[in-house]
Amino acid sequence: MWKILGAVFLLSVATSKATGDQSLPTLYEYYTAGGVNTTLEAPASGFLLNGKEITIFSGAIHYFRVHPEYWQDRMRKLRAAGFNTLETYIPWNLHEPEKDVFDFGDGNRDFSMFLDVRKFIQLAQEEDLFVIIRPGPYICSEWDFGGLPSWLLRIPDIKVRTSDPQFTSRVKIYFDKLLPLLTDLQFTRGGPIIAVQIENEYGGFGKTSDPRDKDYLKFIKNAYEDNGLEGLFFTSDSPSTSGDIGSLPGVLQTANFNSFPTNQLDALKQLQPDRALMVMEFWSGWFDHWLEGSHQTGLRPTVLEDYLEQIFSYNASINVYMFHGGTSFGFMNGANVVFIFPYYAPDTSSYDYDAPLSEAGDYTEKYRILERVVAKHNKVLTQTPEKPAESTKAAYEPIKFSLFMTMEDILNEIEQEDKTQLETLQPMESLPVNNGNGQSYGYINYRKKVKLTNNSTIKISGHVRDIALLMLDNQQKTKIPSQRNDLHGFGFWPDKDQELTFEEADAGERTIDILVENAGRVNYGGPEDFIQKKGLWEGPVIIDGAEQTGWEATALQFKSQWVRNLNSWRQSTSVPERGPVLLKGTFEVTGDPADTWLDFSLWGKGIAFVNGFHLGRYFKAGPPKTLYIPAPLLHSGFNEVIIFEHYQTAAELTFRDSPIFNS
Ligand SMILES: *[C@@H]1O[C@H](CO)[C@@H](O)[C@H](O)[C@H]1NC(C)=O
Ligand SMILES: *[C@@H]1O[C@H](CO)[C@@H](O)[C@H](O)[C@H]1NC(C)=O
Ligand SMILES: *[C@@H]1O[C@H](CO)[C@@H](O)[C@H](O)[C@H]1NC(C)=O
Ligand SMILES: *[C@@H]1O[C@H](CO)[C@@H](O)[C@H](O)[C@H]1NC(C)=O
Repeated sequence: MWKILGAVFLLSVATSKATGDQSLPTLYEYYTAGGVNTTLEAPASGFLLNGKEITIFSGAIHYFRVHPEYWQDRMRKLRAAGFNTLETYIPWNLHEPEKDVFDFGDGNRDFSMFLDVRKFIQLAQEEDLFVIIRPGPYICSEWDFGGLPSWLLRIPDIKVRTSDPQFTSRVKIYFDKLLPLLTDLQFTRGGPIIAVQIENEYGGFGKTSDPRDKDYLKFIKNAYEDNGLEGLFFTSDSPSTSGDIGSLPGVLQTANFNSFPTNQLDALKQLQPDRALMVMEFWSGWFDHWLEGSHQTGLRPTVLEDYLEQIFSYNASINVYMFHGGTSFGFMNGANVVFIFPYYAPDTSSYDYDAPLSEAGDYTEKYRILERVVAKHNKVLTQTPEKPAESTKAAYEPIKFSLFMTMEDILNEIEQEDKTQLETLQPMESLPVNNGNGQSYGYINYRKKVKLTNNSTIKISGHVRDIALLMLDNQQKTKIPSQRNDLHGFGFWPDKDQELTFEEADAGERTIDILVENAGRVNYGGPEDFIQKKGLWEGPVIIDGAEQTGWEATALQFKSQWVRNLNSWRQSTSVPERGPVLLKGTFEVTGDPADTWLDFSLWGKGIAFVNGFHLGRYFKAGPPKTLYIPAPLLHSGFNEVIIFEHYQTAAELTFRDSPIFNS
C-alpha cells in the first residue's frame, strides 16, 4: 500500500531526497539480498546485520497501549521518520491473566484485542521495519507491577526477579508458551526480530552495593535458547550509575538515559570496549504521576537534538523510548516509590510521554527533530513511506446523565462468588476469586455492621493500599484530595494509623463500607518495593479501641462484560451529586467516528467506559484532565458512556477535540 502512495508522492515532490524513491531498495531488500546467514552482531566497529553495517534507529511503541486498528498507522509514521526498527516490551500480566491461562489475542478478555503479539510483529515487517523485543519477564514500563501478574503475590515469600524457584518455575511455564510464538519471526528465519533483551534494568533492582542474582539472568538466557531464540541478546541499564552489575558475561550491554550522553557512553565504552554502542532507552519525554503540578515533558526539543547529535557522534545506535507512548488503558498504570512525601506515586492513564508522536498519534516538534537528525546520520538509503495524515478529531455534544446506580445497587449487582466472608482483613490478591487467582485490579470493598456511639472514632491500622472511601449507610464520609497535602488525611496511603471521628448524629446501628482503590502497583524499585498487596491488610480496623473482625469483602473489578450487562439503573433527571455513583449516558456520532477526549475538569475522580471499554482513570487534580478515546472504539450512531465517580459528579460531561493537561 505505501509503495503506491510513495509513487504518487514522487510525482508531486520530485526533489524529495529518499521518500518514496522506487529506485531505492526496501530495508529487507537491502539487508537480505543474497539470503540470510547471520543475525545482528555487535563488534566494536559497529552493528552488522547479515554482515552489512547498520545503525539501528529504533522507536518504542507498545502494542498493548495502542488500539490495534492504529498499529499500522503508528508504525508507518515511525518508518516515515527514517527509522528502521520498532521496539516493544511484552507484558506477562496480560498474557497470563490467571495461572496457566494464556491470552495471545484469543482470550475473550478485556485486553484480548491488544494481545496478538505475533500479528503486531508481522505487521512491523510488512511496514519494512526490524523488531527488538523485550519479554522481561519484568518490564518496568510504568505498567502495573512492571508487567508481573498479581497472582504471584499469593505465593508466600516469593522473591520475584530472582532465581527463587517459586518465581522461575512460573516464568518458565510462561516463556514456554510465549517464546515458541516468536522463534519463527526471527530475522534468521525470514522474520523481523533482530534482538532480544534479557530482564530489564536489573542493575537498578536494589542498591548498587548489593550483589545481583546472576543465576536468574542465566536462567532467562537459557529459557530463550531452549526455545530457539538466537539473539542478539542484550541487557540494558544506566552505565554511569549501575555499571555492569545487571549484565552477563558475553551478553551485549546497552545504556538507558536522557542526560549526559557523553558520560553514559564513555562509561559504557569503558565497561565494554569490544562491542558496538547502543542506547536502548533514550527517554524522549517523561510520564506523569497524579497530583504532580504540571505535565512532564522531559527533554526540551533543542536539548533532545543536541543529545542526539552527541549520541551519533559516538556512532551509537538508538532506541527512542517512547516514540509513541499511547495509553495505559483500564487499571494497568504502574506507580513509583518516591523518597519524599507522598512516598508512593501512581502514574496517570495517559502515557503521552511528550513523545515524538502524541497520545493520539499526532506529529510533534520532537518528531520533526528526529526525522532531521536521522536523515543526517543514516548511511543506508532505503525507501520510506509518505507520512500518514493525522486522524480527524471531534468534540461531540455534551452528555447529560439521567441513569445512575448507587453504591448499594453496584454491590447488589456483584455475583456472590466475588463476595468473601473474612474473619480478619485480607488484601485483594488473597480473595478466592478469579478461579483462585485472587483479585488483580480495581477496588475491594470491606463491609461490616457496627454500633457507633456519640463521636465514635475509627482507625485503620497501618497504611491504606491505596485510597479508601468510607461510607456510613451509603453516605460518604471521606473527602476528595485536590492537592498533595490533602493526602495527609484519613483514607490515603502516606500516613499510617489514620483516624476519623464520626459525628454525634452518626451514632447507632450502622453499615460501614470501606471501598479501597488499588491505584496501580509499583513498577520500579528494589526487592522491598515489590511487596505490592492492595486493600487493607497491614493491621486491623479499630473502632473506639475495639479491633473489628468479621467483614464481607467484595471484589469490584469493573470487567467489561459486567459493566455492559448492568441492569439496575435508576432513572432521574437529577442524578446524585455525591459519589460513589455509577452514571450512564449516550452521545451520537454522525458519519465516521473521530478521535476525541472526555473532559473531567469539573468532575472528581473515577474511571470511565465507552461502549464497555475501560478507558482508564480520571482525576481532576491532573496533570491530565482528559481521557483519550481512539475513534475505533466508537461507531456511527449512539455510543454509551459509563462513569464511576468516587466523590463529586458534574452537571454534564463534555468532549474536547484535544487533550487538556495542567501546564
Ligand atoms: C550466505 O552464505 C552463503 C553460503 O556460504 C553464501 O553463498 C552467501 O553469499 C551468503 N550470503 C550473505 C548475504 O552473506
Ligand atoms: C564513526 O565512524 C566514522 C566512519 O565510519 C569514523 O570515521 C569515526 O572515527 C567513528 N567515530 C567514532 C567516535 O567511533
Ligand atoms: C461530640 O463532639 C462534638 C463536637 O466535637 C461536641 O460538641 C459534643 O459534645 C460531643 N459529644 C459527646 C457526647 O461527646
Ligand atoms: C449522645 O449524647 C447526647 C448528649 O450529649 C445524648 O442525648 C444522646 O442520647 C447520645 N446518643 C447516643 C446514641 O448515645
